Amino acid sequence: MLQLQNFVVLLGVLLWTCAGAYTQNMFNYEEQKNLSRSYTIQVHRLLCIDAPYKETILNECRMIFRRNQRPLLNVSLEAPKKYNYLMIQFQLYYKFIKYQPFLIDIKAEGCDLMRDRKNDPTRRWMYGVMQDLMSSLVHPCPFGNITYSGLVSLKEEYAPRSVPAGEYRMDGIFTSQANVTLLSMQLFFEVRRKGILKSMLEW
Ligand SMILES: *[C@@H]1O[C@H](CO)[C@@H](O)[C@H](O)[C@H]1NC(C)=O
Ligand SMILES: *[C@@H]1O[C@H](CO)[C@@H](O)[C@H](O)[C@H]1NC(C)=O
Ligand SMILES: *[C@@H]1O[C@H](CO)[C@@H](O)[C@H](O)[C@H]1NC(C)=O
Ligand SMILES: *[C@@H]1O[C@H](CO)[C@@H](O)[C@H](O)[C@H]1NC(C)=O
Repeated sequence: MLQLQNFVVLLGVLLWTCAGAYTQNMFNYEEQKNLSRSYTIQVHRLLCIDAPYKETILNECRMIFRRNQRPLLNVSLEAPKKYNYLMIQFQLYYKFIKYQPFLIDIKAEGCDLMRDRKNDPTRRWMYGVMQDLMSSLVHPCPFGNITYSGLVSLKEEYAPRSVPAGEYRMDGIFTSQANVTLLSMQLFFEVRRKGILKSMLEW
């Protein structure tokens, strides 16, 4: 029974990926942001891994649970040095028995990204998410010589129009030109269908 369930989930993921949902649905960030979603996101855990960091000081990396409200993510990072290069990487994992890379694996150099999205949907999505979730990081170069802090809640609007139900992990990794990790975050969340049809195939 469990095996059959897993198979159905895998099939669903494959079909969904193949359907081109990735390119069409996912990255039209500004247009898709305000549209309602047929699922809810529950954030379970926020981790900042590999700390302490060599060049930055992590003051805070915490989830604040609230009654009847979305939890807040509180991250505060002191970056005393200046950076004219910042590699930003977002990777999404879907838990299928264990966490597997899924749909999002994008990298952009921050200074370049702040200057120009090049009308590229992936870069626009990345920039849009950063504006909403890490607004203190959205400024022209250089980065650093500042304390970056954010107090945000994760909304469905930041995610694609339709996503398979299940457990996810989103990694956000920030590295310097010398490949020194400045911040490495992992956000664990669950996507649940709204309504009675809980099957993955009903998106
Ligand atoms: C989305 O909603 C915000 C405010 O709720 C509004 O300012 C913005 O123009 C809307 N964007 C689109 C593309 O409809
Ligand atoms: C978030 O973290 C900062 C830095 O530690 C702290 O000053 C602030 O009070 C925190 N915010 C909340 C709402 O807990
Ligand atoms: C950091 O910023 C302060 C002002 O906010 C400035 O006086 C100082 O020169 C800067 N340090 C470096 C290394 O750029
Ligand atoms: C940067 O370092 C990580 C390990 O911390 C390594 O996996 C990765 O390959 C390195 N990237 C480059 C471009 O050197």
